[in-house]
Amino acid sequence: MIDDSKITQIEDHGENGVSHAEDSQVRVTNKTAHKTFLQRNKYRIRQICGVAILLIVITSVAVLITKNSGSDIESGDSEAQAFIQNTESDTEVTTSAVSTTTSASQSSTTSSATVTEDTTTSSQQTTQETTTQQTTTTEVNTQKPMTSTTTKVVDNKDPEVVKPTVIKGILVVNKSYPLPADYNPGGLTPETAAAFEKMRQAAALDGIQLWICSGFRSYYTQQNLFAQYCWRDGTEKAETYSARPGHSEHQTGLAIDVNYASSWQFDNTPEAKWLAEHCNDYGFIIRYKPGKEQYTGYVAESWHIRYLGDVELCKTIEASGLCLEEYLGISSKYNN
Ligand code: DAL
Ligand code: ZN
Repeated sequence: MIDDSKITQIEDHGENGVSHAEDSQVRVTNKTAHKTFLQRNKYRIRQICGVAILLIVITSVAVLITKNSGSDIESGDSEAQAFIQNTESDTEVTTSAVSTTTSASQSSTTSSATVTEDTTTSSQQTTQETTTQQTTTTEVNTQKPMTSTTTKVVDNKDPEVVKPTVIKGILVVNKSYPLPADYNPGGLTPETAAAFEKMRQAAALDGIQLWICSGFRSYYTQQNLFAQYCWRDGTEKAETYSARPGHSEHQTGLAIDVNYASSWQFDNTPEAKWLAEHCNDYGFIIRYKPGKEQYTGYVAESWHIRYLGDVELCKTIEASGLCLEEYLGISSKYNN
């Protein structure tokens, strides 16, 4: 007797396709067909693989080059610009707290700014910034430590290790002489702000409008700013025009960028000429002059003035034709 259910199973098996013998035969046939296909198309498959590998290599190289070469990130690059413009402390002109003293009262302004490309042709200098907005507010440092950075590790965070350097009565800050991260006068020093205001009024009488584009910058503002320049232009280039955190004169509260921190916007303007001619009378020097890059460590900045306070000293330095480093016999070089 044959069990009914077994008959059904055998029939179902038949309906669903092939028997085991047929099945294995089909598999062998498929295998053979596959092998034949591979053999026939061996050359073509090799070609496809070769092209694919080539594409992967080219893409990887392109990505590496883009990442490593700062100059590949154009100032006009929309992604780069968006990043820079959307960051709160976005440029060298971004000022956390710039104080301006008037004769009757003390007020303070906070500036935020947009990076523009410097198209100066006479040097490699490519950046700087323009002020786009100025609002009066209380003197508050709104800068935050950055979340990501491309800066090199700096060794000047520990106030126990790093001390401000004063040479011949002058607080010196450059690539050789850093300030500790916690050095923070909270804005321009009152003397610096007062001297600028006096100069501004004198300039106005001559029909020249001067304003503070960037004054005091905290360690963290500079850190943020420098990181963005490194990201945009590459570290090597950024270091020709921007200081590493702890190495900027702006952290002293004694330095001011006047009007436009930008070669193409400020160099050779009536304002720049007036500033160069008169700033000594108010205790300032133009800090980074053309031809002094090897001593100062930076390309020329016709807008960056440094308050020394002593008018005679300023005039002596000016008459000597020396920059501050030469005058003091010091270097401006990073030690790492
Ligand atoms: N641009 C000057 C060198 C600074 O970053 O302080
Ligand atoms: Zn400056």
